[in-house]
Amino acid sequence: MSAPSHSSLDISRRAVMVSGAATAAMSALPADVQAAPAPSKPATMPVSFKVNGKDVSLTLDTRTTLLDSLREHLKLTGTKKGCDHGQCGACTVIVNGERINSCLSLAVQHQGDEVTTIEGLGTPDDLHPMQAAFVTYDGYQCGYCTPGQICSAVSVLKEIEAGIPSHVQEDITAAPAFTNMEMRERMSGNICRCGAYSNIAEAMAAVAGAKA
Ligand code: FES
Ligand code: FES
Repeated sequence: MSAPSHSSLDISRRAVMVSGAATAAMSALPADVQAAPAPSKPATMPVSFKVNGKDVSLTLDTRTTLLDSLREHLKLTGTKKGCDHGQCGACTVIVNGERINSCLSLAVQHQGDEVTTIEGLGTPDDLHPMQAAFVTYDGYQCGYCTPGQICSAVSVLKEIEAGIPSHVQEDITAAPAFTNMEMRERMSGNICRCGAYSNIAEAMAAVAGAKA
């Protein structure tokens, strides 16, 4: 029988050292961690709702936000993810006629709801009046916040029309007016890092004036 070569001795020495180190590391772990079961699969749930007038049915991890269901599952990437924490408004969509931050809402909460995203408001050939006004009044620069701004702006005008009071109203029993202050206050949850605020307010005023 021939003697083992140097290289095979090296490999077996390395293998012994690695296995020894792994055993030492395992024995250093607390007993409950060593015995931890393999992670279970995430819970999923079917959910059906309407998006931009179309029925959709998905089976989702129950932790999926409405925002991620729109962007990752339905490929509607017009709705943007900014902070993912309810602080920037980039993810604003309209659900059953009211604006919400879709990053703060689980998709499975929306069974049977009607969701409108920027893609459902208008098309390049047939813009919603608010989309057209944003173009006319330069209500954007980079455009990242713009889908959320437009969905919010459309809802804000409806909120004022419906008489929903705001923080800047002197008399909250009176009907709110389409003033610059009202619109700025109601849009304060939509952040624009490019600072297009005054142009956005002008676009909104133009649409509000056309409505009045
Ligand atoms: S991404 Fe939802 S509020 Fe910022
Ligand atoms: S247009 Fe750039 S963040 Fe608003």
